[in-house]
Amino acid sequence: ISLTSLNTFGLNQHCDSLVEVTNKDELIKTSLMLYQQQQSMLILGGGSNVVFTDDFQGTVVKVSTKGITINEVDDYYYLTIQAGENWHQLVEYCLTKHIYGLENMALIPGTVGAAPIQNIGAYGVEFNRFCHKIEFLQLDTGDLVHYDNQQCEFGYRESIFKQQLKNLAVITEVTLKLPKKWEPVVNYGPLQHFDAMDVTAQQVFDCVCHVRQSKLPDPKVLGNVGSFFKNPVVSVVDYHSLKNRYEDLVGYRQVDDHYKLAAGWLIEHAGLKGINIGGAAVHQDQALVLVNLGQATGDQVCQLAKHIIQTVFDKFAVTLQPEPRIMGSVGEIEVK
Ligand code: FAD
Ligand code: EPU
Repeated sequence: ISLTSLNTFGLNQHCDSLVEVTNKDELIKTSLMLYQQQQSMLILGGGSNVVFTDDFQGTVVKVSTKGITINEVDDYYYLTIQAGENWHQLVEYCLTKHIYGLENMALIPGTVGAAPIQNIGAYGVEFNRFCHKIEFLQLDTGDLVHYDNQQCEFGYRESIFKQQLKNLAVITEVTLKLPKKWEPVVNYGPLQHFDAMDVTAQQVFDCVCHVRQSKLPDPKVLGNVGSFFKNPVVSVVDYHSLKNRYEDLVGYRQVDDHYKLAAGWLIEHAGLKGINIGGAAVHQDQALVLVNLGQATGDQVCQLAKHIIQTVFDKFAVTLQPEPRIMGSVGEIEVK
């Protein structure tokens, strides 16, 4: 079965079997059964953060569960959303209901169930800002578990679901807690021209959509998985020594005194913008995005990623880490 239309990089790989689940019970039963039969399995949402480097020798479970319920209390809305709902549609739905807060994260592709895994974020807001509770099936115990925000151990593109619970948790539903008193977040680059006192959520939404559409390639036109690497976080000392050598280096101070460097800047200034290996290329306009020129293979993507990691390391002594999940024939692999 072809996976080409199930991954936004458009990589032409196959899997042994594919099951699409449309309700929570089915999701739970199917994944538990596959786990207990010790079959290789991959839980797949929108396929916007996976890179298939090989045919997958196992079962892909495509999560298409749907449903949103809203519970209104004095100061908050609680929204419980099934894992297979589309993230951007949720953001739009909230706007129509006058429930605000998610607008900075407009147009992030993929499903709601995948959002907690890497704690998605954009334009100054991360998922964990509004995460109240995550419900998941824990495969090794068979239990349906609820974690609150703290228990998820969210960080920058990180959570417990990529660490201790990696491959062990099937996220079934997500509960968000959105304050009725909306507080706009307009401190990130292209939103800074707004006045926080009289901006509307619709204006933030429109601006984020506009900027994203002008910067990021549309996967339907040019396959990609968004940023291919995380923005590396370095110590103050390392930041200053690099800044002394490269005056226009882009870095943002973090709350814990570290600096987050713009990986796109590092890749561009290592002279890699636009280069390609076969059909896999560094995007012309945004060096942090790798794209499929048409016939890219998973191997070419990995070779290109390795070349970028090595070249950036040789020039800046900074190690880039891939952001998407790189999949081999039976499970996740590392680009080394
Ligand atoms: P998939 O790619 O289907 O899966 C990703 C991983 O999560 C896989 O390991 C999969 O096994 C696992 N998984 C998926 N669903 C479940 C589940 N229900 N339970 C357990 N495991 C599951 N990300 C950002 O943070 N910010 C951005 O601004 C951003 N911009 C992007 C722009 C573009 C053009 C693209 C293509 C991607 C972008 N991304 C961004 C990355 C991507 O949108 C997110 O990582 C998203 O959360 C992936 O969702 P998905 O449903 O497509 O996940
Ligand atoms: N830059 C360059 N050259 C490039 C690309 C970027 O110099 O080729 C510089 C820009 O000039 C800017 C800085 O890098 O000063 C940051 O660029 P941008 O605002 O486009 O954001 P980013 O760091 O490339 C991150 C996230 C995106 C998210 C945006 C907006 C990561 C890994 N990426 O990108 O998330 O949408 O900020 O918040 O944190 C994703 O995770 O897939 C993703 C797209």
